[in-house]
Amino acid sequence: MRFQDKVALVTGAGSGIGAATARRLAREGARVGVLDVGAQSAGEVVAAIREAGGAAQAIEADISDADSLQNAVAEFMNTAGRLDIVVANAGINGLWAPIEDIEAHEWDATQNVNGRGTFLTFKFCVPHLKKQGGSATIVSSLHGHAGLTIMGSTAYAASKAAQIHMARKLAVELARWEVRVNVVSPGYTRSRIGQSHSKRNIESIKLDISRAPGSGRLHVGPLDPDHIASAIAWLSSDEAAFITGVHLPIDGGESLVSG
Ligand SMILES: NC(=O)c1ccc[n+]([C@@H]2O[C@H](COP(=O)([O-])OP(=O)(O)OC[C@H]3O[C@@H](n4cnc5c(N)ncnc54)[C@H](O)[C@@H]3O)[C@@H](O)[C@H]2O)c1
Repeated sequence: MRFQDKVALVTGAGSGIGAATARRLAREGARVGVLDVGAQSAGEVVAAIREAGGAAQAIEADISDADSLQNAVAEFMNTAGRLDIVVANAGINGLWAPIEDIEAHEWDATQNVNGRGTFLTFKFCVPHLKKQGGSATIVSSLHGHAGLTIMGSTAYAASKAAQIHMARKLAVELARWEVRVNVVSPGYTRSRIGQSHSKRNIESIKLDISRAPGSGRLHVGPLDPDHIASAIAWLSSDEAAFITGVHLPIDGGESLVSG
């Protein structure tokens, strides 16, 4: 019970990695705010946590909408009273396409959730974390630091790279309040993120992967969300008390060979 008496907020916790993380933190004693833009999926995760004997509360909010998120965090704090752990996980794949085929509003849509949404999550949660210290973990992606041979994900990759550097900057800024900030970068993981994904004209920039350095030497299958949740739980716990500003790839080695 590493998280006894702790309160955690997980964004995008209605599905995939966020849901697995919420369940893991709750199983080890945390009271968890299950935040998602989808009220139904958040409610289902809360029901499963409660059925397993844990404590959780559904929070409906869009992380890219400042008013929606500010009100949701304030409401959660009114009932939970404190905040020790934040997992900034919510994100979308957005449009993958050749750069000239991406419309400005499509680029913005990806940055609004993954970039602006992560900023707003910190903006509204940090004042509560600062009160007693705590841990914040951002869920970036293999695309944020590698995966150069996976074509068309430029908007997504740019948003995910920004998250990695954001974590480093905030680790330094928040250290004096004993708030640790780390970032994990999963490889391909089973989830519903394909529903937030569209592709256009990808064939036109397809790469002959057999020519990429290192390709073919390592085959990496999809990860289970629990593989990511384990690392996030460890980073969120006192076992990682002196770990901050760290970027941790969790991809079975895929980033070592994907360019
Ligand atoms: N699945 C993968 O292969 C993979 C790999 C690397 C990184 N990631 C990252 O992991 C994170 C979680 O993705 P997942 O794979 O579990 O996907 P998922 O689609 O299963 O879960 C994401 C959740 O975030 C919610 N969400 C989306 N936009 C939101 C918003 N504006 N406000 C609030 N909630 C919102 C969705 O409703 C959904 O429940 C994302 O940041 C994603 O980029 C996923």
